[in-house]
Amino acid sequence: MYNSKIAGTGHFVPENVVTNDDLSKIMDTNDEWIQERTGIKERRHVVEGDGNTNSSMAVKASKIAIKKAGLVVDDIEFIVYATISSDLFFPGSSALVQEQLGCKENIAALEVRNACSGFIYALSVADQFIKTGMYKNVLVIGAEVHSTGIDLTTRGRDVSVLFGDGAGAVVLSQTTEERGILSTHLHAEGKHAKELYVEAPSSTKWVPKLLADTDDLSYYPYMNGREVFKHAVTRFPEVIIEGLEANNMTSNDIDLFIPHQANLRISQFVGKRLGLPEEKVFNNIQKYGNTTAATLPIALDEALEEGKIKEGDTVVLAAFGAGFTWASAIIKW
Ligand code: UT7
Repeated sequence: MYNSKIAGTGHFVPENVVTNDDLSKIMDTNDEWIQERTGIKERRHVVEGDGNTNSSMAVKASKIAIKKAGLVVDDIEFIVYATISSDLFFPGSSALVQEQLGCKENIAALEVRNACSGFIYALSVADQFIKTGMYKNVLVIGAEVHSTGIDLTTRGRDVSVLFGDGAGAVVLSQTTEERGILSTHLHAEGKHAKELYVEAPSSTKWVPKLLADTDDLSYYPYMNGREVFKHAVTRFPEVIIEGLEANNMTSNDIDLFIPHQANLRISQFVGKRLGLPEEKVFNNIQKYGNTTAATLPIALDEALEEGKIKEGDTVVLAAFGAGFTWASAIIKW
């Protein structure tokens, strides 16, 4: 029997900091509204010419994760890449990273398009391949570049103030020890697909249609914020408790809860519902905003850097977002 453990973590964010005050110069918003409703103080945006793309940031994060795992690129046998903002419409960034990292010839590269819960879905895929003995070391990435695709005007302020750019990566490695990823639980409810979505470009709305109507807004993200919020605060505790129960645990066993960074209010609400003291809920949305698939690997790397996770700890990851999809992972460090 094999288990899989997180052997190394890394993250990279663009150098360019965009504060709430910066946004208030280009749209009708303000620092008070953003901080009060979301907790966000600033986020990172790529800048044209700075060399930062979805895949290039992922490569930087991956190199750190591989190094911290004590491995070299040649040890990586499979890439699972969570993103909804890959460099190209297709192929996915997983193929680009395989090439840019200089991976061993022809290793498999898989793209996961599950938005906010994408990283846990990707982790779950990697975990299954390791537990069956197929692979020993899998690179799992979450990366997003949102700033180039959001409406940075007053018209799009309800969405655009929330999102940021960044990348995180982990190396998942085979172990025979009784630790690592204890469980993952994944869910989806497609009837809510249009509460948070981008319509185009897509096979129902391809480029000729977009070019024919230059005022078409369907390539900007749409979000019914209140509806998403309502479901998030229900699904987060639900999927965490599902994971804990599957491992005969309760929330008292949690040493650190790392929620997907969508909104500080959601994270605080879920923490309270689980009866967790504030210091057991990790948040860094204040600095980066919502980086969708990248929030969890970035937060995990920072939590480790800050010494918030030690060997033997029970770490819980959970996410909720577009689809709707939601997921949890229970990890024994
Ligand atoms: O990671 C993906 C999953 N996403 C989430 O989990 C997000 C879940 N939803 C949320 O976090 C919250 O719903 C938001 C932070 C998106 C919005 O907060 P809210 O408290 O639900 O605000 P609201 O959308 O109800 O808007 C309240 C008011 C509106 O004005 P009126 O109609 O009351 O006059 C908005 O027009 O705030 C206005 N508003 C803004 N004002 C200043 C909306 N966006 C902004 C803005 N700056 N950026």
